[in-house]
Amino acid sequence: MSVVKRYALPVFCCLGLFCARAQEPAMNYDESLVPDYVLPDPLTCSDGTKVTDAATWTSKRRPELLALFETQVYGKAPGRPEGLHFKVLGEDRYTLGNMATRREIAVYFTDDETHFMTILLYIPNKRTDVVPIFLGLNFKGNHTICDDPLVTPSIPRTAPGKGPSDGFPRAAAASRWPVEMLIANGYGLATVYRGDIDPDYDDGFQNGVHPLFYRDGQTRPEPDEWGTIAAWAWGLSRAMDYLETDEDVDCERVAVIGHSRLGKAALWAGASDPRFAMVVSNESGCGGAALARRRYAETVARINRLFPHWFCENYKQYAGNEDALPVDQHELVALIAPRPVYIASAAEDKWSDIRGEFLAGVHATPVYELFGLEGLPDTELPENDAPEQSGYIGYHVRSGGHDITPYDWRQFVKFADKHLKR
Ligand code: GCU
Repeated sequence: MSVVKRYALPVFCCLGLFCARAQEPAMNYDESLVPDYVLPDPLTCSDGTKVTDAATWTSKRRPELLALFETQVYGKAPGRPEGLHFKVLGEDRYTLGNMATRREIAVYFTDDETHFMTILLYIPNKRTDVVPIFLGLNFKGNHTICDDPLVTPSIPRTAPGKGPSDGFPRAAAASRWPVEMLIANGYGLATVYRGDIDPDYDDGFQNGVHPLFYRDGQTRPEPDEWGTIAAWAWGLSRAMDYLETDEDVDCERVAVIGHSRLGKAALWAGASDPRFAMVVSNESGCGGAALARRRYAETVARINRLFPHWFCENYKQYAGNEDALPVDQHELVALIAPRPVYIASAAEDKWSDIRGEFLAGVHATPVYELFGLEGLPDTELPENDAPEQSGYIGYHVRSGGHDITPYDWRQFVKFADKHLKR
């Protein structure tokens, strides 16, 4: 694929103050300093054969790429556990001004019920049939997503000393979750607190779901086994296991969505679990939609240093060595084909690499074309607030900073109306 720019990144070496940083390239925010790179071709198999039809993609190239992302980037997850079971904890048919039904469901990961996550589900009351839904993890607890006094507060699982020890206040994240708007547009919403699945800090994989699946004598994941992002994605798939059983949900029309680190998880969930009918990545950045080889803003080295628990151990070998990665993030987007995917960036969120996120959509497009579908029709970054939604890869840059706003959600709903509404 195309070679872009020429430049050798300087090495950041701060008199040996931090060994880990010694090999870390300086942070680059200058487009003219993006180094030359050659992206791996999603349509060339590892044995060199070219993929020219959808059947070969699906039977040969897709599994090959999926395995590379599994073993080199996010880590292999255990699949659906045998003991998985659900309990509806409560239901209220008259919530959000009688517009919606609220249901809370415990998803137990094992028979012995030692560990569970709670799904908070809202279903529009105005419905004649099963409804499409958006499913996404939340950062601060189920009770923070809207001003509904009866939602069971999630048990806070922040790093010791980080965040309020007794949890975030109710509705603390309401600006990010336009529940009423979704309900008014005929969508349900399901959400789970990320900390229910795996708390977001490096504790050697002891306090989340990982230990439930350790083999005898195992104390942490193997180098090709799941980190925290893969655990979150796995949790989204377990939520999907429940949604398949809910009589008000159309499990064939579930859009998985996430912002930032949870956007990375949503992309991996959508790529690895084809039951998700649509995927939305909001400002997912490095390890999400942004191309790693661009080394723009957040890099593989930096993300692994600051968040050593997010990816599998194997991913660390690509720190400062992105050209050796057998994949790049356009191929993560391509794994979602032929299902619709929306990539959203924000103009002031340079940390997430706006152009890198856009280019992942551009370079995933040939895979959509194999299916006779339009991917991302533009090859030039659109103006701010000018969404491109005509193909199966939607894209926009919203004015403003790193956040997920009602503007973003309105675009996702428009895109979902096109692809999921019947
Ligand atoms: C940090 C991190 C990003 C991540 C973001 C978030 O900025 O470097 O990779 O996306 O947190 O989740 O808000």
